[in-house]
Amino acid sequence: MTDNPYRPGAAHAPPYLAGRDAERREFSRLLKQTPVLENLVLTGIRGIGKTVLMRAALRKDAIENSWIWVGSDISEAVSVSENHLARRLLTDLNTFSADWEYASDEQHPLGFTNVPERRTIRFDYQTMMALFEQEPGLVSDKIKRVLLEAWQLMQKHMPDKKGIIFAWDEAQNLADRSADNEYPLGVLLDVFSSLQSQGAPFMLVLSGLPTLFPKLVGSRTYAERMFRVMSLDNLNHEDSGEAISKPLEKEPEQIKTFFNSANEGIYALTKGYPYFIQFWCRELYDYVADARPFVDKKSTGIIERISRKLDNDFFEGRWARLTDRQRDLLGVIAHLENSDGEFTVQEIVNQSKLTGQAFSNSHANQMLTTLFDRGMIFKNRHGKYVLAVPLLDQYIRRHMHTESTDETSSHD
Ligand SMILES: Nc1ncnc2c1ncn2[C@@H]1O[C@H](COP(=O)(O)OP(=O)(O)O)[C@@H](O)[C@H]1O
Ligand SMILES: [Mg+2]
Repeated sequence: MTDNPYRPGAAHAPPYLAGRDAERREFSRLLKQTPVLENLVLTGIRGIGKTVLMRAALRKDAIENSWIWVGSDISEAVSVSENHLARRLLTDLNTFSADWEYASDEQHPLGFTNVPERRTIRFDYQTMMALFEQEPGLVSDKIKRVLLEAWQLMQKHMPDKKGIIFAWDEAQNLADRSADNEYPLGVLLDVFSSLQSQGAPFMLVLSGLPTLFPKLVGSRTYAERMFRVMSLDNLNHEDSGEAISKPLEKEPEQIKTFFNSANEGIYALTKGYPYFIQFWCRELYDYVADARPFVDKKSTGIIERISRKLDNDFFEGRWARLTDRQRDLLGVIAHLENSDGEFTVQEIVNQSKLTGQAFSNSHANQMLTTLFDRGMIFKNRHGKYVLAVPLLDQYIRRHMHTESTDETSSHD
């Protein structure tokens, strides 16, 4: 028996990256642009597959098309100030530019006159930082100066490369802070739109939660035109089937047979949400691998067992952090007909009257804001809401059901 092939977990490369063909085709189109006019925003809820799509597919496609790809995760720290942003960019550049000859010390372009022995100055972090600091003006002017220099040097040292892609994950962490007079997001957008209008082949690939694009547009309205937005959805029926079955090609017949008969059921349980596919398949695989050769199609109890484990690992922590009133509101949402899609405040208010937990318009609005801050819901560009946690509506219905049966039984 081989090891369990399935990989539930943030950024864990799946055994087989299913679907996403339309996204890859669209990205290929972006790779062909000269000059670069459009950048990419890759967005979607947690666990939908943004990180693995970037790392496993888009990166590969870019490199095969002669682009230089540098990627990093945007931590909260990077978003603190414009200078942090600048350092992030220079650090990314440094990963491939550090060997490039910038000048020899005879020319001492940065005033390194007291360098003891004759040596070549490379375009490494230190040189870039010196260039950055000596350039007068705003942080965005300084960054542009360094990036324009990088462009010149790239043409000399890597003439076969088409350009440089900066691929930043968790980019929703970038934020302007007017209180501190720090606008890293604005600076980033200014720098790239200005360089691109000069024909410099730099492209941004920003990946993040659904809050990302509204944030970009909130910082600079022209961001609307700068980005092609790809929203990742659950895998469709066929692609989910492949995510389940393809990793099993080298497995014993019995495992394949089990998963063949379970394939539809797994789709029904996960709705094609990639993290859940990996989760269910991993658990089921362990179950069949242990039970072989006695496993049969009845598999009594296993679905309930995995379901409980998923509730426990995935939902309960989030649920526990909510107040009773927040749970009530989510309960109302879970009973909307369109609870797994987009819904409006008005729909919530109407539904709440039916269930006897009436919320006023302003109260519902205010609670939605706190639920948004807690990462339980997202608001899209058109003012509609979606649950940020997949299948949360099902969990809530299950949970409320158990709670109410608990209550009934305690009255016995
Ligand atoms: N296209 C796919 N096919 C199969 N599994 C996938 C796919 N996309 C994501 N996954 C799995 O889903 C989980 C979440 O993926 P991840 O890229 O971390 O999501 P995100 O970055 O959107 O939060 C991982 O376990 C990953 O292996
Ligand atoms: Mg991710």
